[in-house]
Amino acid sequence: MTTLLTALTHRHEAHLVEVLGAARGLTLVRRCADLAELLSAGAAGVARVAVVSPDLRGLDRDALRHLAGHGVRVAGLVAADDEEGERRLRQLGVATLLHPDDGPDAIEAALSALADATTSRRPDDEDPTQDDPVPEAPGRPTPVTVVWGPTGAPGRTTVAVTVAAALAADGVRTLLVDLDTWGASVAQVLGLVDEAPGVAAAARASEQGTLDVPALARLAPEALPGLRVLTGLPRADRWPELRTAAVEDLLRLARGIVDHVVVDAGFAIEDDEELSYDTAAPRRNAATLAALEAADALVVVGAADPVGLQRLVRAVQEVALVAAPPPLVVVNKVRASAAGPRPERTIRDVLGRFAGLEEVRMLPWAPDDCDEAVLTGRTLTEARPRGALTLALTALAAALDPRCADTSTTARHGRRRRAAV
Ligand SMILES: Nc1ncnc2c1ncn2[C@@H]1O[C@H](COP(=O)(O)OP(=O)(O)OP(=O)(O)O)[C@@H](O)[C@H]1O
Ligand SMILES: [Mg+2]
Repeated sequence: MTTLLTALTHRHEAHLVEVLGAARGLTLVRRCADLAELLSAGAAGVARVAVVSPDLRGLDRDALRHLAGHGVRVAGLVAADDEEGERRLRQLGVATLLHPDDGPDAIEAALSALADATTSRRPDDEDPTQDDPVPEAPGRPTPVTVVWGPTGAPGRTTVAVTVAAALAADGVRTLLVDLDTWGASVAQVLGLVDEAPGVAAAARASEQGTLDVPALARLAPEALPGLRVLTGLPRADRWPELRTAAVEDLLRLARGIVDHVVVDAGFAIEDDEELSYDTAAPRRNAATLAALEAADALVVVGAADPVGLQRLVRAVQEVALVAAPPPLVVVNKVRASAAGPRPERTIRDVLGRFAGLEEVRMLPWAPDDCDEAVLTGRTLTEARPRGALTLALTALAAALDPRCADTSTTARHGRRRRAAV
């Protein structure tokens, strides 16, 4: 027996309810008046399938994801001549479409098949967008690298921007996405003064079902040859606009336009869902959590001073509890004045002892290089191509993507050769 919810807005409702009544294998559990009622009924686990109208107010990817998360699959009811409604549902990923004049048998067959599809799928496959006819990038799969780290401005944005620029400079087409919902800064750091639409526009398009590869490419123009940028929220208080489903959608599509995606993520990962009674409410760290879950590589950046290292230890422990790849830990702003006379050794000791980390990368303290780059709105690769910090970050980019050459060793050899002359 397939249990059903409906959330139908138009004149076909009464007719459909009658047809459902005639189908033996279907039980209509509740007729929901609006999306809110549908979401709460879905969360209560009372039904396996929901039938919705294309013009149901507020219906978006996040709502579908929420329903999918509770094991509810969605079908649409569209009039035969409603092309606009049909297109909208398909773009949202609703593949099963019923017509008002379908008979009870056809409807029962379609909805039972949909319910069975739910039960036979693994939970991590429950992506309501799976049916999207989106073209994938040919050739090598595009990795997503997320740059994350604790609070205290350890240098997440500096690392994300420079790694992305180093990849692009080596011919690896890259998209840099600013998903920091606590203080986006990529646009400013890169001197992108024009009000770029960025992630907010991409998220809106995704929720409306109009985001596809060309649309995302238009929203993420090239800031440098081979480096596309999807700028962050213009104001941090607009964080509710970046919801899980939209972030998942844009990262999935991003893989279709470049060779490597780099995400600058917000510092926090605690999941505020448990604090809220409304499980469909937006969560401030949803963007970061979704990016971590989608990531192929995770770079965790910490600062090399005592407070920064303590936060880094805790961050490594915290991120181990969420869905994310194993972290590549980077300690930034390494200097004797903050970490003691032999800073690298001290830092390795601390991180080995308290976080069980054996492999740690160090990035040197380079305030002049960073200041100059930010002041002139350029990347470190442009402003200080031979600087020690730039070379260390180029080496990190090469470690993350074998298509990127590690020029730091050649530069070192060059220096040595010069020194020997
Ligand atoms: N290796 C370094 N040496 C000196 N200064 C650095 C270094 N790396 C980053 N900085 C500087 O530290 C400051 C913070 O860096 P950044 O904005 O990259 O950190 P963040 O972790 O992204 O911070 P936020 O929490 O604001 O997102 C900036 O002024 C940056 O130029
Ligand atoms: Mg930042």
